[in-house]
Amino acid sequence: MLLAASTQRTIGLVILVVVFAGFVLYLIANTRSAKSEAGSEIELAPNRKPYLEDSELEGAKLDRSLGAGFILLAIIGVGLPLYWLGEPGRQQGLIDDRDRIFADRGGELYEDGSDCQSCHGAEGAGGSTAFTITDSDGEFVAVVAWSAPALNTVLSRHSEDEVRHVLNYGRNNVMPAWGTPGGGPLTPQQIEYLIRYLRRIQIPASEIRDIVDTGVKDGVARHLADQGLDASDGAVDDWLDGVAAVVERARSAALAADPSLAGDDDAIRRAGLELLSAGEAPGYEQYLAYGGILFDNPAAGGTYSCARCHTYGWSFAATTDGDDSIDGHPGPILEAYVDGGGFFGPNLTGGSVLDQFETASEHSDFITGGQTIGQTYGRGGSGGNGQMPGFGSRADDDLGVVYPPTLTQDQIDAIVAFERNL
Ligand code: HEC
Ligand code: HEC
Repeated sequence: MLLAASTQRTIGLVILVVVFAGFVLYLIANTRSAKSEAGSEIELAPNRKPYLEDSELEGAKLDRSLGAGFILLAIIGVGLPLYWLGEPGRQQGLIDDRDRIFADRGGELYEDGSDCQSCHGAEGAGGSTAFTITDSDGEFVAVVAWSAPALNTVLSRHSEDEVRHVLNYGRNNVMPAWGTPGGGPLTPQQIEYLIRYLRRIQIPASEIRDIVDTGVKDGVARHLADQGLDASDGAVDDWLDGVAAVVERARSAALAADPSLAGDDDAIRRAGLELLSAGEAPGYEQYLAYGGILFDNPAAGGTYSCARCHTYGWSFAATTDGDDSIDGHPGPILEAYVDGGGFFGPNLTGGSVLDQFETASEHSDFITGGQTIGQTYGRGGSGGNGQMPGFGSRADDDLGVVYPPTLTQDQIDAIVAFERNL
């Protein structure tokens, strides 16, 4: 353990061994080359003055100076190794201190300097901003309230490099470009401060689950109400239980069709998903409806939805009749949404996702991991800037941290089935 503890300790031990071995070698060499005394002055030469006797020299003064020397040697001998051993701890302390100071500075920028909070809410809980929509000729259409996603889970969805990209270049003109590369006012160091602050405000899995579930329940209640059905809390829960039962039935059917899957839960899950996506399992309509509700999840300004990037107008409630907009627009900006029709993210309709991902299973893995800067995906997915988030958990190997998933595996699968039927 001591050896593996740190480079400093290893170096310290190596030096110790070298010094010790050198000392032993010196002793051996010294003893071997020692010569017997050639003779000594028996009588004092007449021109020399007798000096102090040994008994006078070896008095209390010598004892004191030898004692002091010994104490100093002991202090150096014990103190230096101890100091050395404490070095890794001191270095870690320094790093922690820097992190804290940087995150504090990021927090100041977030709250005051750059006023991220006016759009993204306190502690990154999500919010909205006034934005002017213009038509293709640049003519004024309306001022709308555009949802700004929560940032307290952004490190689950994106790597720090991907976040840095958005901070540097902004997005859709709504999110301003902050970094110098994008013509913004903040230095790379200040962008770094903001990222340290984002690390600090990430919320735990349990809070994420609560937020996502609130949005899902809202969505289910609306779905039931649209059909003129009972939309009480109890009915919502029953409907969600129904979805779980549909999934279970599909998995049993998949297992019955291929008994070799027995015991491999993940393989059964994947086979069940293929059946549901292909509309080959009873109750799949309800499953797709559930996927659609997740796709449009309104919780935290749509942070956990797909629609905010894949459905034009969804982020500013374009189909509502102006009540939600900040400036009066006579009617809806859009008559209806084209679900997954494409906006910042590509169009997902018309079977394009079936071309991109041959199986629902591969499709699901893509949604879990997202797109990584410079990496291609599917059959022809180009390597963009990593702006398609990953909705599974994300491990940051450099920091040794694992950020919790923003959607569960079952939720991702339901969205996949929905998308494959758009
Ligand atoms: C004027 C409002 C506004 C301000 C100020 C603002 N943002 Fe944004 N930001 C947005 C909007 C809106 C989006 C989503 C854009 C979209 O819908 O494509 C966004 C997106 C983001 C994203 C991408 C997150 C995701 O999950 O998609 C990050 C990260 C981000 N902002 C960080 C910041 C930081 C840090 C600051 C402060 C330096 C900041 N923003 C200031 C409006 C703003
Ligand atoms: C922050 C914006 C954003 C959000 C939120 C988002 N996506 Fe995307 N998505 C993108 C972008 C950008 C791409 C294109 C990536 C590229 O080309 O590198 C993409 C690509 C995709 C693709 C591949 C499409 C193709 O034909 O290549 C699929 C499928 C997809 N997203 C599904 C989803 C699902 C499902 C969700 C919600 C769980 C979601 N996206 C949420 C931005 C987003």
